[in-house]
Amino acid sequence: MRVNGQSFRTIWQADASGDVAVIDQTLLPFAFEVRTLRHVEDAATAIRDMVVRGAPLIGVTTAYGVALALREHPGNDSLAAAIETLVATRPTAVNLRWAAERMRHAVAALPPAERAARAYAEATAIAEEDVASCAAIGRHGLVLLRELAHGKGGEHINVLTHCNAGWLACVDWGTALAPVYAAHEAGLAVHVYVDETRPRSQGAFLTAFELGAHGVPYTVIADNAGGHLLQQGEIDVCIVGSDRTTATGDVANKIGTYLKALAARDNGVPFYAALPFSTIDWTLGDGAHQVPIEERSAREVTHMRGRASGGSLEEVEVVAPGSHVRNPGFDVTPARLVTGIITERGVATASRAGLAALYSEHERH
Ligand code: MRU
Repeated sequence: MRVNGQSFRTIWQADASGDVAVIDQTLLPFAFEVRTLRHVEDAATAIRDMVVRGAPLIGVTTAYGVALALREHPGNDSLAAAIETLVATRPTAVNLRWAAERMRHAVAALPPAERAARAYAEATAIAEEDVASCAAIGRHGLVLLRELAHGKGGEHINVLTHCNAGWLACVDWGTALAPVYAAHEAGLAVHVYVDETRPRSQGAFLTAFELGAHGVPYTVIADNAGGHLLQQGEIDVCIVGSDRTTATGDVANKIGTYLKALAARDNGVPFYAALPFSTIDWTLGDGAHQVPIEERSAREVTHMRGRASGGSLEEVEVVAPGSHVRNPGFDVTPARLVTGIITERGVATASRAGLAALYSEHERH
């Protein structure tokens, strides 16, 4: 996608030595800087500190992290330690475990001397597949947006999204925002309401940044405004991403997603989750009780980061000192509230049968 007229992905192999480059998302939207990952620990730290974030992107970073480890030490101990380190960084997004296992499978049977080259090739393949999946999600989602536009006599479509499930959360295009970009490119009038997404403000910082950089009209709203807009008929469709979706269609996504789904259902507005196959956890059937929910630092709630009038990035305290604070990072929207799941293979009903119909080779039950 474009930033200041230049095309970027969120992660790429920086040079022939195998160093990996990523956009530092902790500085967006106020500064655009590229970081270099040289060691597996750099990749783990980038995921843990959310220099890179978004389920598909942390999956791809995990894959490159394994390649970085094998570049230094191609033995079995190094492979096992790298996977253990990377998988421990963030618990909710299943893409991370998925990518780690795929990397293990790709290299484990090879002699050590061949492992690093194979690992880079596999990591690059995972990245390219993610781009292709997101582009396909965009095409399938575009069909839905066209239908909605048709139903409104060609009037512009208002999409509500939560968090950032755009190209910054993936390698390119995004999941929830891929249909929006596809619609924009196809000349369909589309406008996005962007939940600010406290506490880390991925909506206000990242989604607003990337939609703006790409020229898609958008409006940022406080997290609590969505219900009102849905009730007033100002939203035509909700589209969110997912960090882990169960085989039964329960959708784990950034905290606050569930409330939007409830409000959408109460007001008869369609609510879609957009995700690639790497986000589906085929081992789970009950999202609310089985998806591990990341508990993040209280400081994300008690403090906010932003740009001061002098231009410097600063953090200010926004909660009464001494308060007890909880910070669950994700919630689960039950399948019954999800109108459909937009995947790279088409739109599935949010159910075991719906997902199994698209992914018969993965369904275990
Ligand atoms: O904590 P984050 O920023 O990694 O959470 C990201 C989200 O919840 C996204 O909505 C989700 O990963 C889908 S990304 C395509």
